[in-house]
Amino acid sequence: MAVGADTFDLRRLPDSFYENPYPTYDRLRSEAPVLACPDGSYLLTRYEDVRRVYRDPRCFSSDKRVQFAPLFGEHSPLFAHHTTSLVFNDPPLHTRVRKAIGNALSDRLVLSMSPALEALVDRLIDDIEARGAFDLVEHFAAAIPIEVIGNLLRVPVEERGPLRRWSLNILGALEVALNEEALAEGNASVVEFLDYLDDLIGRRRKVLADADDDIVARLLRWHDAQGALARDVLYHQCIFLLNAGHETTTNLIANGVLALVERPALFARLRDAPELIDTAVEELLRFDSPNQLGNRTTTEAVEIGGVHLPAQTVITLGIGAANRDPEVFSAPDVLHLDRHPNPHLAFGAGIHTCAGLNVARLEGRIAIGRLIQKFPNLASAQAPVRARRARFRGFVSAPMTT
Ligand code: HEM
Repeated sequence: MAVGADTFDLRRLPDSFYENPYPTYDRLRSEAPVLACPDGSYLLTRYEDVRRVYRDPRCFSSDKRVQFAPLFGEHSPLFAHHTTSLVFNDPPLHTRVRKAIGNALSDRLVLSMSPALEALVDRLIDDIEARGAFDLVEHFAAAIPIEVIGNLLRVPVEERGPLRRWSLNILGALEVALNEEALAEGNASVVEFLDYLDDLIGRRRKVLADADDDIVARLLRWHDAQGALARDVLYHQCIFLLNAGHETTTNLIANGVLALVERPALFARLRDAPELIDTAVEELLRFDSPNQLGNRTTTEAVEIGGVHLPAQTVITLGIGAANRDPEVFSAPDVLHLDRHPNPHLAFGAGIHTCAGLNVARLEGRIAIGRLIQKFPNLASAQAPVRARRARFRGFVSAPMTT
Protein backbone atom coordinates (compact mmCIF):
# COMPACT_ATOMS: atom_id res chain seq x y z
CA MET A 1 0.00 0.00 0.00
CA ALA A 2 1.34 3.42 -0.93
CA VAL A 3 1.94 6.10 1.72
CA GLY A 4 0.88 9.63 0.71
CA ALA A 5 2.80 12.90 1.07
CA ASP A 6 0.65 13.96 4.06
CA THR A 7 1.71 11.00 6.26
CA PHE A 8 5.10 9.92 4.88
CA ASP A 9 7.85 9.80 7.53
CA LEU A 10 11.16 8.05 6.81
CA ARG A 11 11.50 7.29 10.52
CA ARG A 12 8.10 5.57 10.76
CA LEU A 13 7.67 3.40 7.72
CA PRO A 14 5.05 0.65 7.53
CA ASP A 15 6.06 -2.95 6.75
CA SER A 16 4.47 -2.62 3.31
CA PHE A 17 7.06 0.05 2.45
CA TYR A 18 9.96 -2.32 3.14
CA GLU A 19 8.27 -4.97 1.01
CA ASN A 20 7.74 -2.59 -1.90
CA PRO A 21 8.57 1.13 -1.64
CA TYR A 22 7.86 1.93 -5.28
CA PRO A 23 4.09 2.67 -5.09
CA THR A 24 4.89 5.14 -2.30
CA TYR A 25 7.67 6.75 -4.33
CA ASP A 26 5.25 7.09 -7.27
CA ARG A 27 2.72 8.88 -5.09
CA LEU A 28 5.33 11.18 -3.58
CA ARG A 29 6.73 12.01 -7.03
CA SER A 30 3.33 13.20 -8.19
CA GLU A 31 2.02 14.69 -4.91
CA ALA A 32 5.18 16.36 -3.53
CA PRO A 33 8.42 15.61 -5.43
CA VAL A 34 10.32 17.89 -3.04
CA LEU A 35 8.75 16.60 0.16
CA ALA A 36 9.10 18.45 3.48
CA CYS A 37 9.68 15.73 6.10
CA PRO A 38 8.62 16.01 9.77
CA ASP A 39 12.26 16.43 10.92
CA GLY A 40 12.88 19.48 8.68
CA SER A 41 14.72 17.57 5.94
CA TYR A 42 13.48 17.16 2.36
CA LEU A 43 13.08 14.02 0.26
CA LEU A 44 13.54 14.20 -3.54
CA THR A 45 11.87 11.60 -5.75
CA ARG A 46 12.26 13.08 -9.27
CA TYR A 47 15.18 11.90 -11.42
CA GLU A 48 16.19 15.39 -12.61
CA ASP A 49 16.23 16.81 -9.08
CA VAL A 50 18.29 13.92 -7.68
CA ARG A 51 20.75 14.13 -10.56
CA ARG A 52 21.11 17.90 -10.25
CA VAL A 53 21.98 17.61 -6.55
CA TYR A 54 24.55 14.87 -7.19
CA ARG A 55 26.21 16.99 -9.85
CA ASP A 56 26.56 20.16 -7.81
CA PRO A 57 28.95 19.52 -4.90
CA ARG A 58 29.38 23.25 -4.30
CA CYS A 59 25.74 23.84 -3.30
CA PHE A 60 25.13 20.34 -1.93
CA SER A 61 27.72 19.13 0.56
CA SER A 62 28.51 15.52 1.51
CA ASP A 63 29.98 16.55 4.88
CA LYS A 64 27.92 14.92 7.64
CA ARG A 65 29.60 16.23 10.80
CA VAL A 66 26.62 18.33 11.87
CA GLN A 67 24.13 15.46 11.45
CA PHE A 68 26.35 12.71 12.85
CA ALA A 69 27.49 14.53 16.03
CA PRO A 70 24.16 14.23 17.92
CA LEU A 71 23.52 10.77 16.45
CA PHE A 72 26.83 9.09 17.29
CA GLY A 73 28.47 11.52 19.77
CA GLU A 74 31.43 13.60 18.57
CA HIS A 75 34.04 11.44 20.27
CA SER A 76 32.65 8.07 19.21
CA PRO A 77 34.40 5.62 16.86
CA LEU A 78 31.38 5.70 14.53
CA PHE A 79 31.60 9.50 14.27
CA ALA A 80 35.33 9.32 13.51
CA HIS A 81 34.78 6.67 10.86
CA HIS A 82 31.80 8.07 9.03
CA THR A 83 33.09 11.65 8.99
CA THR A 84 36.52 10.61 7.67
CA SER A 85 35.54 8.23 4.84
CA LEU A 86 35.75 9.87 1.43
CA VAL A 87 32.05 9.52 0.68
CA PHE A 88 31.17 11.88 3.53
CA ASN A 89 33.76 14.51 2.67
CA ASP A 90 33.91 17.44 0.28
CA PRO A 91 36.94 18.65 -1.62
CA PRO A 92 39.79 19.10 -0.84
CA LEU A 93 40.07 15.91 1.31
CA HIS A 94 37.72 14.07 -1.02
CA THR A 95 39.76 15.00 -4.11
CA ARG A 96 43.02 13.85 -2.51
CA VAL A 97 41.73 10.49 -1.29
CA ARG A 98 39.85 9.79 -4.50
CA LYS A 99 43.03 10.43 -6.48
CA ALA A 100 44.97 8.12 -4.18
CA ILE A 101 42.51 5.29 -4.81
CA GLY A 102 42.41 6.39 -8.46
CA ASN A 103 43.49 3.82 -10.98
CA ALA A 104 43.68 1.09 -8.37
CA LEU A 105 40.04 0.38 -9.30
CA SER A 106 40.58 0.93 -13.03
CA ASP A 107 39.07 -1.15 -15.85
CA ARG A 108 42.42 -2.92 -16.25
CA LEU A 109 42.64 -3.98 -12.61
CA VAL A 110 39.01 -4.98 -12.52
CA LEU A 111 39.34 -7.13 -15.62
CA SER A 112 42.31 -8.89 -14.06
CA MET A 113 40.00 -9.90 -11.18
CA SER A 114 37.77 -11.99 -13.49
CA PRO A 115 39.49 -15.40 -13.29
CA ALA A 116 39.61 -15.42 -9.46
CA LEU A 117 36.01 -14.25 -9.30
CA GLU A 118 34.82 -16.92 -11.74
CA ALA A 119 36.64 -19.57 -9.72
CA LEU A 120 35.06 -18.32 -6.48
CA VAL A 121 31.55 -18.29 -7.99
CA ASP A 122 32.04 -21.80 -9.41
CA ARG A 123 33.18 -23.05 -6.02
CA LEU A 124 30.05 -21.64 -4.39
CA ILE A 125 27.92 -23.18 -7.14
CA ASP A 126 29.54 -26.58 -6.54
CA ASP A 127 28.71 -26.29 -2.83
CA ILE A 128 25.13 -25.36 -3.69
CA GLU A 129 24.85 -28.33 -6.03
CA ALA A 130 26.01 -30.61 -3.24
CA ARG A 131 23.45 -29.11 -0.82
CA GLY A 132 20.45 -28.98 -3.15
CA ALA A 133 18.57 -26.47 -1.00
CA PHE A 134 20.42 -23.27 -0.10
CA ASP A 135 20.04 -19.70 1.07
CA LEU A 136 20.65 -17.28 -1.77
CA VAL A 137 21.96 -14.56 0.57
CA GLU A 138 24.09 -16.56 2.99
CA HIS A 139 25.47 -19.24 0.67
CA PHE A 140 25.93 -17.13 -2.43
CA ALA A 141 25.29 -13.37 -2.63
CA ALA A 142 26.97 -12.37 0.64
CA ALA A 143 29.89 -14.75 0.20
CA ILE A 144 31.14 -13.07 -2.97
CA PRO A 145 31.81 -9.39 -2.13
CA ILE A 146 33.58 -10.21 1.12
CA GLU A 147 36.12 -12.30 -0.78
CA VAL A 148 36.49 -9.69 -3.53
CA ILE A 149 37.15 -6.82 -1.12
CA GLY A 150 39.26 -9.16 1.02
CA ASN A 151 41.42 -9.71 -2.07
CA LEU A 152 41.50 -5.99 -2.87
CA LEU A 153 42.69 -5.16 0.65
CA ARG A 154 44.86 -8.28 0.67
CA VAL A 155 43.34 -9.60 3.88
CA PRO A 156 44.61 -13.20 4.30
CA VAL A 157 41.78 -15.68 3.62
CA GLU A 158 41.92 -17.21 7.09
CA GLU A 159 41.47 -13.76 8.69
CA ARG A 160 38.27 -12.80 6.84
CA GLY A 161 35.81 -14.28 9.39
CA PRO A 162 34.77 -11.05 11.16
CA LEU A 163 34.69 -8.80 8.07
CA ARG A 164 31.01 -9.28 7.27
CA ARG A 165 29.86 -8.62 10.84
CA TRP A 166 32.01 -5.48 11.12
CA SER A 167 30.73 -4.17 7.84
CA LEU A 168 27.03 -4.80 8.59
CA ASN A 169 27.32 -3.20 12.03
CA ILE A 170 29.14 -0.09 10.82
CA LEU A 171 26.74 0.46 7.93
CA GLY A 172 23.71 -0.47 10.05
CA ALA A 173 24.41 2.68 12.09
CA LEU A 174 23.46 4.75 9.04
CA GLU A 175 19.90 3.45 8.93
CA VAL A 176 17.13 5.98 9.37
CA ALA A 177 15.80 4.47 12.61
CA LEU A 178 18.87 3.74 14.78
CA ASN A 179 18.57 2.00 18.18
CA GLU A 180 20.98 1.72 21.15
CA GLU A 181 21.99 -1.84 20.35
CA ALA A 182 22.87 -1.00 16.75
CA LEU A 183 24.86 2.01 17.97
CA ALA A 184 26.87 -0.09 20.44
CA GLU A 185 27.57 -2.79 17.84
CA GLY A 186 28.62 -0.18 15.29
CA ASN A 187 31.06 1.49 17.70
CA ALA A 188 32.57 -1.81 18.82
CA SER A 189 33.02 -2.88 15.20
CA VAL A 190 34.90 0.30 14.24
CA VAL A 191 37.31 -0.22 17.16
CA GLU A 192 37.91 -3.90 16.33
CA PHE A 193 38.35 -3.15 12.65
CA LEU A 194 40.86 -0.33 13.32
CA ASP A 195 42.91 -2.62 15.58
CA TYR A 196 42.91 -5.30 12.93
CA LEU A 197 43.99 -2.87 10.20
CA ASP A 198 46.80 -1.54 12.37
CA ASP A 199 48.17 -5.05 12.51
CA LEU A 200 47.47 -5.89 8.83
CA ILE A 201 48.96 -2.68 7.45
CA GLY A 202 51.96 -2.98 9.77
CA ARG A 203 52.64 -6.40 8.24
CA ARG A 204 51.96 -5.16 4.71
CA ARG A 205 54.29 -2.19 5.02
CA LYS A 206 57.21 -4.53 5.68
CA VAL A 207 56.76 -6.31 2.34
CA LEU A 208 55.56 -3.42 0.19
CA ALA A 209 57.25 -3.43 -3.21
CA ASP A 210 57.61 -0.36 -5.45
CA ALA A 211 55.69 -2.11 -8.22
CA ASP A 212 52.65 -2.86 -6.04
CA ASP A 213 49.66 -1.02 -7.45
CA ASP A 214 46.79 -2.28 -5.32
CA ILE A 215 44.60 -0.05 -3.18
CA VAL A 216 46.45 -0.52 0.08
CA ALA A 217 49.81 0.19 -1.59
CA ARG A 218 48.40 3.39 -3.10
CA LEU A 219 46.89 4.51 0.17
CA LEU A 220 50.12 3.76 2.03
CA ARG A 221 52.15 5.87 -0.39
CA TRP A 222 49.63 8.68 -0.11
CA HIS A 223 49.65 8.39 3.67
CA ASP A 224 53.43 8.58 3.78
CA ALA A 225 53.36 11.70 1.66
CA GLN A 226 50.86 13.32 4.07
CA GLY A 227 52.72 12.71 7.33
CA ALA A 228 51.81 10.71 10.40
CA LEU A 229 48.59 12.55 11.21
CA ALA A 230 46.86 10.90 8.28
CA ARG A 231 47.13 7.37 9.69
CA ASP A 232 43.49 7.13 10.77
CA VAL A 233 42.42 8.71 7.50
CA LEU A 234 44.08 5.79 5.73
CA TYR A 235 42.46 3.14 7.95
CA HIS A 236 39.01 4.67 7.65
CA GLN A 237 39.22 4.53 3.83
CA CYS A 238 40.02 0.79 4.02
CA ILE A 239 37.04 0.21 6.32
CA PHE A 240 34.90 2.25 3.96
CA LEU A 241 35.96 0.24 0.92
CA LEU A 242 34.74 -2.94 2.54
CA ASN A 243 31.50 -1.32 3.66
CA ALA A 244 30.85 0.35 0.32
CA GLY A 245 31.36 -2.82 -1.65
CA HIS A 246 29.84 -5.40 0.64
CA GLU A 247 26.14 -5.01 1.36
CA THR A 248 25.50 -3.10 -1.87
CA THR A 249 26.87 -5.88 -4.06
CA THR A 250 25.26 -8.62 -1.95
CA ASN A 251 21.96 -6.86 -2.59
CA LEU A 252 22.60 -6.46 -6.31
CA ILE A 253 23.13 -10.20 -6.62
CA ALA A 254 20.22 -11.32 -4.40
CA ASN A 255 17.73 -8.69 -5.64
CA GLY A 256 18.75 -9.48 -9.20
CA VAL A 257 18.47 -13.27 -8.98
CA LEU A 258 15.10 -13.06 -7.22
CA ALA A 259 13.71 -10.54 -9.71
CA LEU A 260 14.55 -13.05 -12.46
CA VAL A 261 13.23 -16.09 -10.56
CA GLU A 262 9.94 -14.23 -10.08
CA ARG A 263 9.77 -13.64 -13.88
CA PRO A 264 10.30 -17.06 -15.47
CA ALA A 265 10.09 -15.72 -19.04
CA LEU A 266 12.94 -13.28 -18.39
CA PHE A 267 14.93 -15.93 -16.53
CA ALA A 268 14.65 -18.22 -19.57
CA ARG A 269 15.47 -15.41 -21.98
CA LEU A 270 18.68 -14.51 -20.17
CA ARG A 271 19.70 -18.16 -20.04
CA ASP A 272 19.16 -18.47 -23.78
CA ALA A 273 20.87 -15.16 -24.58
CA PRO A 274 23.74 -14.79 -22.08
CA GLU A 275 25.10 -11.88 -24.12
CA LEU A 276 22.29 -9.83 -22.53
CA ILE A 277 24.01 -10.00 -19.14
CA ASP A 278 25.58 -6.51 -19.40
CA THR A 279 22.32 -4.67 -20.04
CA ALA A 280 20.48 -7.04 -17.68
CA VAL A 281 22.76 -6.10 -14.77
CA GLU A 282 22.27 -2.37 -15.50
CA GLU A 283 18.53 -2.91 -15.55
CA LEU A 284 18.57 -4.89 -12.29
CA LEU A 285 20.57 -2.03 -10.73
CA ARG A 286 17.87 0.40 -11.88
CA PHE A 287 14.87 -1.78 -11.14
CA ASP A 288 15.61 -2.61 -7.48
CA SER A 289 18.56 -0.38 -6.60
CA PRO A 290 20.72 -1.79 -3.80
CA ASN A 291 21.37 1.70 -2.41
CA GLN A 292 18.01 3.46 -2.32
CA LEU A 293 18.77 6.68 -0.47
CA GLY A 294 21.61 9.20 -0.46
CA ASN A 295 22.08 12.48 1.41
CA ARG A 296 23.40 15.98 0.91
CA THR A 297 23.22 19.27 2.85
CA THR A 298 22.68 22.64 1.18
CA THR A 299 25.61 25.03 1.61
CA GLU A 300 23.50 28.06 0.58
CA ALA A 301 19.85 28.89 -0.08
CA VAL A 302 18.61 27.04 -3.19
CA GLU A 303 15.38 26.37 -5.02
CA ILE A 304 14.43 22.87 -6.16
CA GLY A 305 11.21 22.29 -8.09
CA GLY A 306 9.82 25.63 -6.88
CA VAL A 307 10.54 24.85 -3.22
CA HIS A 308 12.88 27.21 -1.38
CA LEU A 309 15.46 25.45 0.82
CA PRO A 310 17.61 27.51 3.18
CA ALA A 311 21.32 26.83 3.75
CA GLN A 312 22.05 23.79 5.97
CA THR A 313 18.94 21.91 4.86
CA VAL A 314 19.39 18.13 4.85
CA ILE A 315 18.24 16.51 1.63
CA THR A 316 17.52 12.81 1.11
CA LEU A 317 18.05 11.71 -2.48
CA GLY A 318 15.59 9.05 -3.55
CA ILE A 319 17.81 6.93 -5.81
CA GLY A 320 15.28 4.09 -6.01
CA ALA A 321 12.51 6.61 -6.72
CA ALA A 322 14.52 8.46 -9.39
CA ASN A 323 15.26 5.17 -11.11
CA ARG A 324 11.50 4.58 -11.55
CA ASP A 325 10.74 8.10 -12.84
CA PRO A 326 8.51 7.77 -15.93
CA GLU A 327 9.88 11.08 -17.27
CA VAL A 328 13.17 9.29 -17.93
CA PHE A 329 12.40 5.57 -18.11
CA SER A 330 9.52 4.30 -20.23
CA ALA A 331 7.38 1.71 -18.41
CA PRO A 332 9.65 2.12 -15.33
CA ASP A 333 7.99 -0.69 -13.36
CA VAL A 334 8.75 -3.22 -16.08
CA LEU A 335 12.06 -5.08 -16.08
CA HIS A 336 13.54 -4.86 -19.60
CA LEU A 337 16.66 -7.01 -19.90
CA ASP A 338 17.89 -4.98 -22.88
CA ARG A 339 16.79 -1.50 -21.79
CA HIS A 340 18.86 1.07 -23.61
CA PRO A 341 19.73 3.80 -22.84
CA ASN A 342 19.62 3.22 -19.11
CA PRO A 343 21.03 6.28 -17.34
CA HIS A 344 20.14 5.00 -13.85
CA LEU A 345 21.51 6.62 -10.72
CA ALA A 346 22.21 3.40 -8.79
CA PHE A 347 25.89 4.41 -8.53
CA GLY A 348 25.11 8.08 -7.83
CA ALA A 349 26.56 10.75 -10.13
CA GLY A 350 29.12 13.58 -10.11
CA ILE A 351 32.38 13.66 -8.15
CA HIS A 352 31.27 10.96 -5.69
CA THR A 353 30.10 8.50 -8.39
CA CYS A 354 30.76 5.01 -7.03
CA ALA A 355 34.51 4.37 -7.28
CA GLY A 356 33.89 0.61 -7.32
CA LEU A 357 31.23 0.48 -10.02
CA ASN A 358 33.34 -1.64 -12.36
CA VAL A 359 33.98 -4.14 -9.57
CA ALA A 360 30.27 -4.25 -8.72
CA ARG A 361 29.27 -4.75 -12.35
CA LEU A 362 31.78 -7.55 -12.80
CA GLU A 363 30.54 -9.31 -9.66
CA GLY A 364 26.92 -8.92 -10.78
CA ARG A 365 27.60 -10.26 -14.26
CA ILE A 366 29.62 -13.27 -13.18
CA ALA A 367 27.48 -14.21 -10.15
CA ILE A 368 24.03 -13.78 -11.68
CA GLY A 369 25.04 -15.05 -15.13
CA ARG A 370 26.71 -18.24 -13.89
CA LEU A 371 24.06 -19.09 -11.27
CA ILE A 372 21.16 -18.99 -13.70
CA GLN A 373 23.11 -20.92 -16.35
CA LYS A 374 23.88 -23.67 -13.87
CA PHE A 375 20.40 -24.03 -12.34
CA PRO A 376 17.59 -23.76 -14.93
CA ASN A 377 15.01 -24.79 -12.31
CA LEU A 378 16.09 -22.34 -9.63
CA ALA A 379 13.05 -21.49 -7.47
CA SER A 380 12.15 -20.00 -4.10
CA ALA A 381 11.59 -22.69 -1.45
CA GLN A 382 9.89 -20.17 0.86
CA ALA A 383 9.04 -16.49 0.61
CA PRO A 384 12.29 -14.49 0.85
CA VAL A 385 12.56 -12.16 3.86
CA ARG A 386 13.23 -8.48 3.15
CA ALA A 387 15.63 -6.60 5.43
CA ARG A 388 13.81 -3.76 7.23
CA ARG A 389 16.17 -1.21 5.83
CA ALA A 390 15.18 1.81 3.77
CA ARG A 391 18.66 2.89 2.69
CA PHE A 392 20.11 -0.44 1.60
CA ARG A 393 17.49 -2.59 -0.10
CA GLY A 394 18.01 -6.31 0.09
CA PHE A 395 17.01 -9.60 1.69
CA VAL A 396 17.95 -11.14 5.03
CA SER A 397 17.32 -14.63 3.70
CA ALA A 398 16.02 -16.29 0.57
CA PRO A 399 15.67 -20.09 0.80
CA MET A 400 15.94 -21.64 -2.66
CA THR A 401 15.82 -25.02 -4.37
CA THR A 402 17.82 -25.98 -7.41
C1 HEM B 1 26.00 -2.76 -6.61
C2 HEM B 1 26.97 -2.35 -5.84
C3 HEM B 1 27.19 -0.90 -5.49
C4 HEM B 1 26.31 0.14 -5.44
C5 HEM B 1 24.83 0.12 -5.77
C6 HEM B 1 27.08 1.31 -5.03
C7 HEM B 1 26.52 2.58 -4.89
C8 HEM B 1 27.24 3.71 -4.59
C9 HEM B 1 26.69 5.05 -4.53
C10 HEM B 1 25.24 5.42 -4.80
C11 HEM B 1 27.72 5.88 -4.23
C12 HEM B 1 27.65 7.41 -4.12
C13 HEM B 1 27.42 7.90 -2.73
C14 HEM B 1 27.22 9.41 -2.68
O1 HEM B 1 27.53 10.12 -3.62
O2 HEM B 1 26.72 9.87 -1.65
C15 HEM B 1 28.91 5.07 -4.04
C16 HEM B 1 30.14 5.55 -3.68
C17 HEM B 1 31.25 4.76 -3.49
N1 HEM B 1 31.37 3.41 -3.73
FE1 HEM B 1 29.91 2.20 -4.39
N2 HEM B 1 28.37 0.95 -4.80
C18 HEM B 1 28.50 -0.39 -5.09
C19 HEM B 1 29.65 -1.16 -5.00
C20 HEM B 1 30.89 -0.69 -4.66
C21 HEM B 1 32.10 -1.49 -4.62
C22 HEM B 1 32.20 -2.96 -4.99
C23 HEM B 1 33.10 -0.66 -4.17
C24 HEM B 1 34.56 -0.94 -3.92
C25 HEM B 1 35.24 -1.91 -4.43
C26 HEM B 1 32.52 0.65 -3.97
C27 HEM B 1 33.21 1.77 -3.56
C28 HEM B 1 32.67 3.03 -3.46
C29 HEM B 1 33.43 4.18 -3.04
C30 HEM B 1 34.92 4.20 -2.64
C31 HEM B 1 32.54 5.27 -3.05
C32 HEM B 1 32.84 6.70 -2.63
C33 HEM B 1 33.19 7.50 -3.84
C34 HEM B 1 33.40 8.95 -3.50
O3 HEM B 1 32.91 9.44 -2.48
O4 HEM B 1 34.10 9.59 -4.29
N3 HEM B 1 31.18 0.59 -4.27
N4 HEM B 1 28.60 3.75 -4.29
